[in-house]
Amino acid sequence: MSADGKISTKERVQVRISGEEDFRRVDELKCTADAIMVGVGTILADDPSLTVKAKGYPNPVRVVVDSLARTPPDAEILNKGEGKRIILVSENAPLERINALSENAEIVIVGTERVDLRAGLIELKRQGLNRLMVEGGGTLNWSLLKEGLVDEIYTFIGNLVIGGKNAPTLVDGDGFSKDDRFMPLELIDLERVGDGVLLRWRAEKV
Ligand SMILES: NC(=O)c1ccc[n+]([C@@H]2O[C@H](COP(=O)([O-])OP(=O)(O)OC[C@H]3O[C@@H](n4cnc5c(N)ncnc54)[C@H](OP(=O)(O)O)[C@@H]3O)[C@@H](O)[C@H]2O)c1
Repeated sequence: MSADGKISTKERVQVRISGEEDFRRVDELKCTADAIMVGVGTILADDPSLTVKAKGYPNPVRVVVDSLARTPPDAEILNKGEGKRIILVSENAPLERINALSENAEIVIVGTERVDLRAGLIELKRQGLNRLMVEGGGTLNWSLLKEGLVDEIYTFIGNLVIGGKNAPTLVDGDGFSKDDRFMPLELIDLERVGDGVLLRWRAEKV
């Protein structure tokens, strides 16, 4: 995220926030994950492939959280590189879209109107996927945190300001209210990476 906590612009356009050193760090982290997950908002905004860039390492299983199966069949994540893809959808997803996506991905139906994240993670675990890396965006991050499904948060803070009250932040969604208990975090580590800083937090289960 930027120094002011934004993860893209007010137009939801991807911004290069970190440099080569941080890209390599994220790539290495990806190599240690069994699966990598994003929300469909990130697929539609950025069209990421989520492949590992280092040569000789397999791609983790790529997972999209997508209640209505809106992932475009020609999305990079479905077409670039080897490896399994899983799309978590809800019972509301239209059958024809499910059929179109099932050519390149395993479709898992969890939840009635929206993807039930806890049920989705249980299914990933059942498939032997123990270490899950989530790359956002802010809506998915919020839901996972709110439901107590996050162990650690890694935030790279880059040396730029993006601004904009409607620009996505690390955690969006509804947010906690003044009467809620805010989510406590424990700082595990901090490190300078290139021109920014990497923070590692452990999320306490509330
Ligand atoms: N800087 C970075 O590292 C970084 C990383 C990732 C993304 N981004 C930015 O973040 C923005 C996209 O973020 P976003 O918040 O719009 O989208 P998102 O978090 O990627 O995806 C959110 C979507 O996931 C679906 N979803 C299904 N079940 C859900 C559940 N239980 N909880 C939450 N979401 C659920 C919802 O769509 P349905 O209801 O249709 O299922 C929801 O709108 C883009 O601007 C992108 O550039 C930045």
